[in-house]
Amino acid sequence: MSILSAIDVTKAFGGVTALSRCSVKMESGQVIGLVGPNGAGKTTLFNILSGLIAPSSGAVEIQGRSIIGMRPDQIVALGAAKTFQVARGFGSLSVLENLLVADSSQRDLSVWRAFANFPGRLGTHRALVRQAIDVLAFLKLIDLKDMAASHLSTGQKKLLDIGRALMLSPKIILLDEPLAGVNPKLAEQIAERIDDLRRSGMSVALVEHRVEFVRELCDYVYVLSEGKILMEGRPNNVFSHTEVISTFLGGGAA
Ligand SMILES: Nc1ncnc2c1ncn2[C@@H]1O[C@H](COP(=O)(O)OP(=O)(O)O)[C@@H](O)[C@H]1O
Ligand SMILES: [Mg+2]
Repeated sequence: MSILSAIDVTKAFGGVTALSRCSVKMESGQVIGLVGPNGAGKTTLFNILSGLIAPSSGAVEIQGRSIIGMRPDQIVALGAAKTFQVARGFGSLSVLENLLVADSSQRDLSVWRAFANFPGRLGTHRALVRQAIDVLAFLKLIDLKDMAASHLSTGQKKLLDIGRALMLSPKIILLDEPLAGVNPKLAEQIAERIDDLRRSGMSVALVEHRVEFVRELCDYVYVLSEGKILMEGRPNNVFSHTEVISTFLGGGAA
């Protein structure tokens, strides 16, 4: 049984069909890649796979259980967490604090502060801080833990966003363009962390334009074009197809 699957997923926004009968699946411990030009529907498919939005039709399952209609916290409990293409954050909070609010990012900050200061919750809070420190050490951001998140570079913000997802202790992590706009050195570092996650047994789905990294990291790749799966397979096969190459060049983003 696949750890995560979408079967015949269609999504329309008003008159725009963003996805048309897409099927993708990921096996436990795999890294899958989703590539394609801008507007192809990659983020929409990710939002559906993580239960952030519901498909117009089709099925989405985590280990055989339908997630359609589940609340975000129920989906997190099943083990799925996602980062955002445009890293969101609480710029005025420190790097460490950003991780502490990770599982309450939907809530008002003042609510979190009240929660954090409530004596009965202190034990929980300490455990959360310990986990956040571990996550920052893994991401090699520990030296920056007290810095305002707004002062981080693009790549460091991407790492922090991965950190926020890791705070949910996921089995499945969906990364939307984790390397976009990141300098080569930091991109290499982020790629190494993604590989570490896989080796630790996590299943990873990746939207990424930088083909060299997709080739290096992914076990299996889906090419999305105009809301449809154009092709799928192992990276070396997929990226040798002229049709795929021309789609990338046509979309202006390879
Ligand atoms: N919330 C939305 N409302 C209306 N249209 C949307 C929305 N989200 C995405 N779309 C449209 O769906 C298509 C796919 O977008 P998206 O999934 O963001 O593509 P990608 O991530 O591959 O660049 C685009 O035509 C986009 O304009
Ligand atoms: Mg996108």
